Amino acid sequence: MKIRAAVLEQFGKPLEVQEVEIAPPREGEVLIRLEACGICHTDLYTASGADPGGYVPCVLGHEGAGVVEEVGEGVTLVAPGDHVVTLFSPQCGRCSHCVSGRTNLCLAVREQQGKGYLPDGTTRLSRQGNPIRHFMGTSTFAECTVMPEIALAKVRADAPLDKICLLACGLTTGLAAAIHRAGVEPGATCAVFGAGLVGLGAVAGCRLQGAGRIIAVDPSPARLEIARRHGATDLLEGGPKVVDRILEMTGGFGADYTFEATGLVSVMGQAVEAARLGWGLCTILGVAGQGEKLEIVPRLLITGRRVCGGSFGGARGPVDVPRFVDLYMEGKLDIDSLVSHHLTLEEVNRGFELMEKQDGVRSVIQF
Ligand code: CU
Ligand code: ZN
Repeated sequence: MKIRAAVLEQFGKPLEVQEVEIAPPREGEVLIRLEACGICHTDLYTASGADPGGYVPCVLGHEGAGVVEEVGEGVTLVAPGDHVVTLFSPQCGRCSHCVSGRTNLCLAVREQQGKGYLPDGTTRLSRQGNPIRHFMGTSTFAECTVMPEIALAKVRADAPLDKICLLACGLTTGLAAAIHRAGVEPGATCAVFGAGLVGLGAVAGCRLQGAGRIIAVDPSPARLEIARRHGATDLLEGGPKVVDRILEMTGGFGADYTFEATGLVSVMGQAVEAARLGWGLCTILGVAGQGEKLEIVPRLLITGRRVCGGSFGGARGPVDVPRFVDLYMEGKLDIDSLVSHHLTLEEVNRGFELMEKQDGVRSVIQF
């Protein structure tokens, strides 16, 4: 079948929207007709050539939502007509990690996914017989995609796909980090560094957990205002004095929970320092540049601070994403304010430009 897709042909060049061939789903795979897809920094990072694991040609995009059109042999988790959110972080339920119950890092597809292939080591995307590789196992800058059934979150059909696609990546990362990874408890004091989609998700997650105080830190006053709408009680501009400010605000001790969502190692260091003496937990969510290191003074750890991290915030997509969709539909989670621009697939490169200009939180492609 022919579909339109945004192909990364060359690093550092705009994506080229063109017709490509998509093959039917094989065993355990599902063909999804996408209705919406968010444009994320990770797509831009790979398109720019900065990602050491990048490859071309490939179809980027990973924040997708759509409707199941066709299922391959043996598929039991979804059926045609089901609404789904795409997951770059699947859950097979069978590998040693999945059965451990201790991590969301499923081992089932990792190796092939990192190389741009579906789990059987091939692609469903091609052009004149030449394979085009998948990206993050999702490739959602396209009218349709083929993915393993274990990498889909089945969601209620009345939820608008152009909003809940944001739960495919950053928003769920922040929410899950606060709710599951850190397990913020009622009354806790929290500090969130970075008010992009991940940080705003963490702010919302802290609020949903009943945090008493949520300090949001970001250089952009506009993003801080959005953080306030999501539950931040105190807004700080950031900079070298921000740790001192947080210590002042917390009786000299620091916050019970801190979250880092910038990818800057200097800010990660601040998030560790701002965690409370005795028991503060710092959760690192941002992706640092290649080769960068986080330096921590050991005394901070000896005196009880802890540091953890979490890919996808520790979320188990097939379970957690539908729950977060419910929270949205119940009015407990605001996603609408996070979608700043609606674009067509043809305008995907404009989405990258808007992101580079830091114009709004998220652009969403509608197909
Ligand atoms: Cu993303
Ligand atoms: Zn697994």
